[in-house]
Amino acid sequence: MRIEVLGGEEGWPIVEALDREVYPPEYMATVIWKHVVWAHADKRVVVWDADGRVVGHAGLFFRDGTHDGAAVRMCGIGGVMTSASMRKQGVASAAMRRAAGAMAAHGADFGLLFCEQHNVKLYGSLGWKIFAGQVHCTQPTGAMIFDMMPNMVLPLRRAPERGKIDLCGLPW
Ligand SMILES: CC(C)(COP(=O)(O)OP(=O)(O)OC[C@H]1O[C@@H](n2cnc3c(N)ncnc32)[C@H](O)[C@@H]1OP(=O)(O)O)[C@@H](O)C(=O)NCCC(=O)NCCS
Repeated sequence: MRIEVLGGEEGWPIVEALDREVYPPEYMATVIWKHVVWAHADKRVVVWDADGRVVGHAGLFFRDGTHDGAAVRMCGIGGVMTSASMRKQGVASAAMRRAAGAMAAHGADFGLLFCEQHNVKLYGSLGWKIFAGQVHCTQPTGAMIFDMMPNMVLPLRRAPERGKIDLCGLPW
């Protein structure tokens, strides 16, 4: 496996085919978050297999927001995906560990991700904790509470467990 951190725009054409494989239109039509407008990644962790095929991805979203009104620098993780043929071999875990390193290097106070219930165990094993408060964000239609999936925090300089996190922008 080779793992690199690329710029968000630069990395998109490299991971686009993987995104189409993992999230085909027929699947996207069924998901609870199908109408959500998402932010674009600032950085992308990309994983290649030994044959040079892109098999894994995690997007990083650097964001200045607030926790209970105090300014915080958070780093979102989104678009975590592994090619179906390479799952359960540690690809996503390796991408998430690299992402955590990039977050710390960026000086983030904590990481924040939104995931489906069946992935809580995986992220929990990587040090992420359930955030029991409310996450607020924006959509083109106005403000929104992001409560359609569990929210998880990776403690770095801070470890928010409850209260109100405001993303001050689009979710990821
Ligand atoms: C969720 C997803 C990214 C996980 O990717 P992955 O590369 O299979 O993840 P990992 O291999 O690191 O870990 C998956 C499981 O395999 C286990 N595992 C890792 N390496 C292993 C190995 N060598 N042998 C056996 N099991 C292994 C992990 O412990 C983990 O177990 P758990 O789910 O019980 O916690 C992938 O299933 C996927 O792309 N799903 C569709 C998109 C999606 O849901 N993305 C997440 C959005 S939040």
